[in-house]
Amino acid sequence: MKKLPIFLLCMLIVSTTFKVNAQSKVDPKDIRDKMQWFGDAKLGIFIHAGIYAVDGIDESWSFYNKKISHADYMKQLKGFTLKKYDPAAWAELIEESGARYAVITTKHHDGVAMYDTRMNNLSSVKATPAKRDMVKPFFDELRKRNIKCGAYYSLIDWTDANYPGFLKDSSKYKISDDYERWNRFRSFFQGQIKEINSMFKPDLWWFDGDWEHSAEEWESQKVRQIILSGNPNAIINGRLQGYGDYETPEQNFPVSKPKYNWWELCMTTNDNWGFHHDNNWKTPYEVITIFVDAVSNGGNLLLDMGPKEDGTIPEEQIHVLKELGAWNKKHGEAIFNTVAGLPQGHFYGPTTLSKDSTSVYLFLHGKVDGQILIKGLVNTIEDISVVGNGAKLTHKVVGKISWSPVPGLVYITVPEAVSDKYVTVLKVKLDKPLKLYRGQGGLN
Ligand code: GLC
Repeated sequence: MKKLPIFLLCMLIVSTTFKVNAQSKVDPKDIRDKMQWFGDAKLGIFIHAGIYAVDGIDESWSFYNKKISHADYMKQLKGFTLKKYDPAAWAELIEESGARYAVITTKHHDGVAMYDTRMNNLSSVKATPAKRDMVKPFFDELRKRNIKCGAYYSLIDWTDANYPGFLKDSSKYKISDDYERWNRFRSFFQGQIKEINSMFKPDLWWFDGDWEHSAEEWESQKVRQIILSGNPNAIINGRLQGYGDYETPEQNFPVSKPKYNWWELCMTTNDNWGFHHDNNWKTPYEVITIFVDAVSNGGNLLLDMGPKEDGTIPEEQIHVLKELGAWNKKHGEAIFNTVAGLPQGHFYGPTTLSKDSTSVYLFLHGKVDGQILIKGLVNTIEDISVVGNGAKLTHKVVGKISWSPVPGLVYITVPEAVSDKYVTVLKVKLDKPLKLYRGQGGLN
């Protein structure tokens, strides 16, 4: 959501907050098993592929915000070639980044399907010189590498003439004034969902744009049933007006630990989802620290890339993914198959825990040299090592009163030589599952 007039923005913030806080209609107990892979995955790659890459303009929003007319926006169809599209190379890069899943736009708010939809002719196959379905070959390559496949699908369709928010001309209408027409749109979008579900069997559905209508209007419950009846283990994101399985904060990291059972921060690598003339690239350091922050707070990161119209991926994005991949390769133990770390107050930085909580991983940003501190650790430390490096570190316990239950302060000495160029990780092996002191200090 972006580039909207201020008052609209405020309304959206209010509605987004409402959306995020809205009671989920899904019982976490019913979905725990199928969410397992998602909770362990930690990293996904988002791909915004669409005709907006031709001119390098905002995906769909450029005509919504009247930066370009709808007609001129649609002229980009003629320039969408995919002539260098290499889904195997994409999948390889995604694998190299360490990601365990990828999500691709099957249709954005502009209504242009990136696969061979039978519901209309507005697709990369029928309306562009590419004449190709992007989704199937990409999913095939991902599956060869054991990477889970996600389908992004925009419920909003600002090009379909039966959609009430249709912005091409004055044919906007109210659902209450023309229910038949809304029903035609519903059959259309639900038809696309059915075909995507049966053609590609996505492991994950990533809906977008639910804010324009209510659960009743979208028939969210029915949409959920359509998906799960053909594909019972599919995971559904939270943008379905209460009928999804997990939450999707966007771009900005939540400051305090989100209370959701499962969540995923979706984030661009520069400031745009699709390919754009925008050089505000995040550095590998920034991406890695944001990633670690998400994981240490119990979430995933869905990092976006925006390929060009010919199907190539900008160099800067490749660089970030490769650096992230190299870092993940070295530190995978501290990330994948871990759970959220220590509550705030015990360590000044992100942490994760092994699932049995007998190891704590500490993440140290930037250059390290000196002592770091853990507070309130009741356990005895068996061993401290530098992940991906093997060096053993020493520690000392300070201020322990022998007869008090309050543990001492643990100081670990970290020499500069063990520094990683981005984020150094220490593994603190404990004698038993983690036990923390959370009191006020003093004598009890
Ligand atoms: C927003 C935007 C959309 C983008 C999505 C990704 O909801 O509307 O353009 O695809 O975020 O999270």
